[in-house]
Amino acid sequence: MNNKIKWGILSTGHISKKFADALALLPDAVLAAVASRDLETAKNFAEKYNVPKAYGTYEELAADPDIDVIYIGTPHTFHLENSVMCMRKGKAVLCEKALTINAAEAREMVRVAREQNVFLMEAMITRHVPLIKKVLAWIREGRIGEVRMVRASRCARGVFPPGARQMNPELGGGSLLDVGVYVISFASMIFQKSPLETVGIGHIGDWESDEQGVAILKYGNGEIADLSFALRTAAVNEAYIFGTEGYIKIDDVFAVPTKASLFVNKVEVEVLEEPIIGNALNYEAEEVMRCLKLGLKESPFMPMDESVQIMEIMDNIRKPWGLVYPNDHL
Ligand SMILES: NC(=O)c1ccc[n+]([C@@H]2O[C@H](COP(=O)([O-])OP(=O)(O)OC[C@H]3O[C@@H](n4cnc5c(N)ncnc54)[C@H](OP(=O)(O)O)[C@@H]3O)[C@@H](O)[C@H]2O)c1
Repeated sequence: MNNKIKWGILSTGHISKKFADALALLPDAVLAAVASRDLETAKNFAEKYNVPKAYGTYEELAADPDIDVIYIGTPHTFHLENSVMCMRKGKAVLCEKALTINAAEAREMVRVAREQNVFLMEAMITRHVPLIKKVLAWIREGRIGEVRMVRASRCARGVFPPGARQMNPELGGGSLLDVGVYVISFASMIFQKSPLETVGIGHIGDWESDEQGVAILKYGNGEIADLSFALRTAAVNEAYIFGTEGYIKIDDVFAVPTKASLFVNKVEVEVLEEPIIGNALNYEAEEVMRCLKLGLKESPFMPMDESVQIMEIMDNIRKPWGLVYPNDHL
């Protein structure tokens, strides 16, 4: 693979626009094509972001022989179908979070990636933010002793138009898959294993999807994660990692953080501050390109099997809620 990586963007919504902005910051990235369900929409996007090719179907983008990697920015309910189509055409895929709507779909997506021997990564931005790598180094160095608890909250006060993706169960809407995935992925990153017990309470609001929820995960050595997520609650977005000897606080918004503090004996002993460059999506695009250049089929920072485990945790959390998405197999 040569030095420039040719990207295609599949869909033209909110996050795809941000992803196009992010690619523009990366000298090794070429945004070579965009696809929408509607050709005019694709052309408008192409004009705005200076993309040479615009397609009116996702299939044409998947079939374009000049594209190395495709970014999937559709609602969760389409991630499996869109990603599998691209991978079957030999394309590497960066797929937005949540990877799918359930673990069965995630397992299938990963199975196809391995069958086709192509790169696949869930776009979980937190994993690639420079400050997070420094926080993980604090933990590895034993600065807080043995990690015993994680507490994290990812909440937004969203005001959505009727039928918006975020709240529409037909599109996998609801707080668990939209923002809960950040806190669950965070706990998974810290503990590096699957929980043995999962308890979740969610409120199914007027939208008929989960408006807010909490989950407690218990791991094999007694470690516990205490997690909350919401889509119409103005709560904090902080994370804490508590150890036997101290704790780390990651400031709001912990999912794309710029500040973390280390406390020992309740005294702040060190602070890390690091600005976000661009809109942060550039960090995950850089990681994809690093992997492609090395011939890796997955990223060590967001392995495929871990994304499946995260979907399994979310299945277990929502099972008692009676919340079912289209084509769901829970
Ligand atoms: N990483 C992050 O920070 C972040 C932030 C926001 C969202 N996301 C993730 O990105 C994905 C998309 O979110 P978004 O907020 O960008 O959504 P959005 O603004 O609604 O855009 C989704 C796009 O998907 C395409 N699409 C295909 N079938 C669709 C259908 N039946 N209904 C609606 N759209 C359809 C449309 O593009 P065309 O019309 O061009 O085909 C649409 O513009 C979600 O999985 C979400 O979790 C990630």
